[in-house]
Amino acid sequence: MNSPLDDLKARFSQALVAALGSELANADPLLVSASNPKFGDYQSNAPLSLAKACGQSPRAIAEQILTQLDVSDLCDPPTIAGPGFINFQLKSSYLGSQLEQMQADPRLGIACVATPQRVVVDFSSPNIAKEMHVGHLRSTIIGDCIARVLEFLGHDVLRLNHIGDWGTQFGMLITYLREVCPQALTTSDALDLGDLVSFYKQAKQRFDSDPGFQEIARQEVVRLQSGQPDSLKAWQLLCAQSRREFQKIYDLLDIHLIERGESFYNPLLSAIVEDLTTAGLLVEDQGAKCVFLDGYTNKNGDPQPLIIQKSDRGFNYATTDLAALRYRIQQDHADRIIYVTDAGQAAHFAQFFQVARRAGWIPESVQITHVPFGLVQGDDGKKLKTRSGDTIRLQDLLDQAIAGAKADLETRIKKEDRPETPEFIDHAAHVLGISAVKYADLSQNRTSNYVFSYDKMLALQGNTAPYLIYAYVRVQGIYRKGQLTEQASTTTQILLQEETELVLARHLLQLTDVLNLVTHDLLPNRLCQYLFELSQKFNQFYDRCPVLQAEPSQRQSRLALCQLTAHTLKLGLSLLGIQVLDRM
Ligand code: ARG
Repeated sequence: MNSPLDDLKARFSQALVAALGSELANADPLLVSASNPKFGDYQSNAPLSLAKACGQSPRAIAEQILTQLDVSDLCDPPTIAGPGFINFQLKSSYLGSQLEQMQADPRLGIACVATPQRVVVDFSSPNIAKEMHVGHLRSTIIGDCIARVLEFLGHDVLRLNHIGDWGTQFGMLITYLREVCPQALTTSDALDLGDLVSFYKQAKQRFDSDPGFQEIARQEVVRLQSGQPDSLKAWQLLCAQSRREFQKIYDLLDIHLIERGESFYNPLLSAIVEDLTTAGLLVEDQGAKCVFLDGYTNKNGDPQPLIIQKSDRGFNYATTDLAALRYRIQQDHADRIIYVTDAGQAAHFAQFFQVARRAGWIPESVQITHVPFGLVQGDDGKKLKTRSGDTIRLQDLLDQAIAGAKADLETRIKKEDRPETPEFIDHAAHVLGISAVKYADLSQNRTSNYVFSYDKMLALQGNTAPYLIYAYVRVQGIYRKGQLTEQASTTTQILLQEETELVLARHLLQLTDVLNLVTHDLLPNRLCQYLFELSQKFNQFYDRCPVLQAEPSQRQSRLALCQLTAHTLKLGLSLLGIQVLDRM
């Protein structure tokens, strides 16, 4: 099913060719939502942009297009406005018939893409033996949403967890643990992640202050890299320990990822050095092998190098990323690769992308994108921390959101004197708490920082998950009150008369356009904004238009509008990784 915008665009392009010639077959109709509803639904700016090339006034062009444009089944007669815009107002009969088609389709009229792509989404990616922090939480929530939208549209998505599970820090950590907690290196479950993180900090201190320790730790790295069984076993135990902790968070958030950590690419790193040498890009500088970057200079104005292999022969984060990029293109056959990390890593991505491009490793057909996001801040505007200044444990953060949701829920239940079971309360609190955290993150433009506030995110009013879920609950309430069961797929005739019905109808038909935009600019807040406005428009409709009390044909039509709203909310929220509830 086409969206109204797709339908209009197709007709407009035909008319453009008929009016002004086939050289305009690919001209953009420049159709956008009208800036003000009083001008209609959509507006085309094409006559203005074509004026110069056609040597005619925009109004003259608009008039010629209109003589060729037949949209009588879609809209009222289009009008020319101002210097030469064309305004379109969709007809209520067309809106009704579109909604009727939508009702009959479990995908709500949203088609899969004609040419599915193989897309790698690299997200979450915490580090072994370190705490998973709010930055990883953002990456997890945003990356999951992007993956869900792409999957829904029919793309073949590989969700990769690029865990930091390799590097010289393991030499340091293993050496330290041999000294202070040897059982952690031979038996599983001897430590929990909290211990591991503090051992890591202590090990780092030793490493920085004790040259003897440093030397043993270096030898340990060599042992590990050459595959000595006891070192390898110790490393695997440490990874398993962290992995169990990460998994708890993924389970709470309902996140599915394939782990392919940095260590996976280890055997491919030396080929990166060889191939960059063959490509003539690698330069030896003070014992290190590096590529000098275009457009990056240091303080003195000298070209900045990207170090591929250090003078001690060790490799860097960027080297692994180069190997991973090649692997994803050559072995995973990726058409598109999306990396979700904090904006602080933007330079890292730009730099190794540049090296890969110059080496000729990125075919034209492959699109690689870094999707940066801003900081999660506390009330003080600084990076979110605990009161004592430590990194917040994600488990605590999520538990607190669930506890807050539970308290709100219990207050409501008591006030309304509703009988609810403890199981229901726990389930609903979990859904509301987790949804609130996810939605607070996704509803911001990801490039900006945002202030983390339980009160705001759990509020029943405003642009929050509880507000959206409540709109869904309202529809379920209508069914309960009318003692109706939801029909699986209906083809009720939809009659749109009241203004609030028309406004809701128009909005319902825009989800396809919003999802298409999200796949391009990877901004989940567009989908949030769409769903927020949908809830508002539904509430306005429901406040003005009686549903159960309306006369029979109107009642059926309005019930269908309620059902479409509920289905759209449920689908849209599921793409944000958010579940709905029947009561709350
Ligand atoms: N482990 C990294 C970190 O914690 C994120 C990895 C992102 N992905 C990548 N391919 N570099 O910051």
